[in-house]
Amino acid sequence: MAVYNFGSINIDHIYSVEHFVEPGETLSSSHYKQVLGGKGANQSIACARANCQVFHIGSVNKKDIHYLEYLEGTGVNCDLVTQTEETASGHAIIQVTAEGENAIVLYTGANHTLTSAQIQGALEQAYANDWVLLQNETNKIEEIINTAHAKGLKIAFNPAPMTNNIKALDITKIDLLFVNEIEAMQLTQTQNIASARLALTNSYPSTKVVMTMGKAGAVFLHQNESIDVAGKQVDVVDTTAAGDTFTGYFLANYCDTNDVKLALEHATAAAALCVTKSGAAPSIPNAQEVALFINS
Ligand code: RIB
Repeated sequence: MAVYNFGSINIDHIYSVEHFVEPGETLSSSHYKQVLGGKGANQSIACARANCQVFHIGSVNKKDIHYLEYLEGTGVNCDLVTQTEETASGHAIIQVTAEGENAIVLYTGANHTLTSAQIQGALEQAYANDWVLLQNETNKIEEIINTAHAKGLKIAFNPAPMTNNIKALDITKIDLLFVNEIEAMQLTQTQNIASARLALTNSYPSTKVVMTMGKAGAVFLHQNESIDVAGKQVDVVDTTAAGDTFTGYFLANYCDTNDVKLALEHATAAAALCVTKSGAAPSIPNAQEVALFINS
C-alpha cells in the first residue's frame, strides 16, 4: 500500500512575536527562521516517518531545490514533483506567539501549477489498494478527486485551509475526511460541534470522518460508530503542523492496520510531540519517538 499525496510544498518564514500584528501596527519579531512546510509536504513527511510509502505530487521553483532534497531526505518519494522557473515556490508568513499559537498568510505560487497530465501520470502508476491524499493548498482539487474515484482508488481529504469552493465538492467520493471543529462546522454550515457531527455522519454515511479537537484529542465518526481519543498534555512551543502530523500518522497507521483506535493513539501522540518543537517539517517526530512517547 502506498499514499499518493497531491500537496503543497511551502517555504515557511517563521517570526516569533509577542502578539499577532494588529491592523496598522508595525511589529518587531524576536526571532526569524525559514523551514520546509506546507500542509502537503508536512503530511507526506508524517506518513513517511510513520513508515508508509509515500509519493508526493507537487511543484517548486528550481532555486528552492534544497527544500525538495530535504523532503526526499525524510523518505518521501519526490520523483513526481516538478520544478518550475516561471513561478515562485509556495510560501507562508507565520507569526508564532510565546503560547505557541500561530497566524498564517499563504502565497500559493507553484502549488497552483498542477496539470491534468501530472495528475493522470501519477494515478496511472497507483495500484488498487493505494490511497490518494490531498489538502486544499493545490489547484485541481475536484479533478484529482474525480480521477482517483473513477480509478477506484481510496481517497483521504483534509479540506484545509477551508474555502467556499470546498462546499461544492462531492464529499461522498471521499473515504476518509480529516477536519478540525471549525472546518466541520464550515463544511456542514452548522453553528455548533454537535450539529456538525450529526450533519457529517448523516450527509456522508459512506465517508469515515476524523475530527481533531486540538488539546482535547480527536474523534472518529462513521454512521453510528464513534471512537474518541483524549489529547496528550505537553508543553506547547509551536502548534504549526500539528494537524498535518496527525493526518499523516493516522492515515499511515490506519492503512497499515485498519485499527482505528491504534491509528488515533499514534496520531494524537505524534501531534503532541510536534507541538513541543518549533517549525513545521522539522517538528514532525519519527515512529520510534512516537512509540517511546506512547509507552512512557
Ligand atoms: O499546517 C501548517 C502549514 O500551513 C504550514 O507549514 C504552512 O506552510 C501552511 O501551509
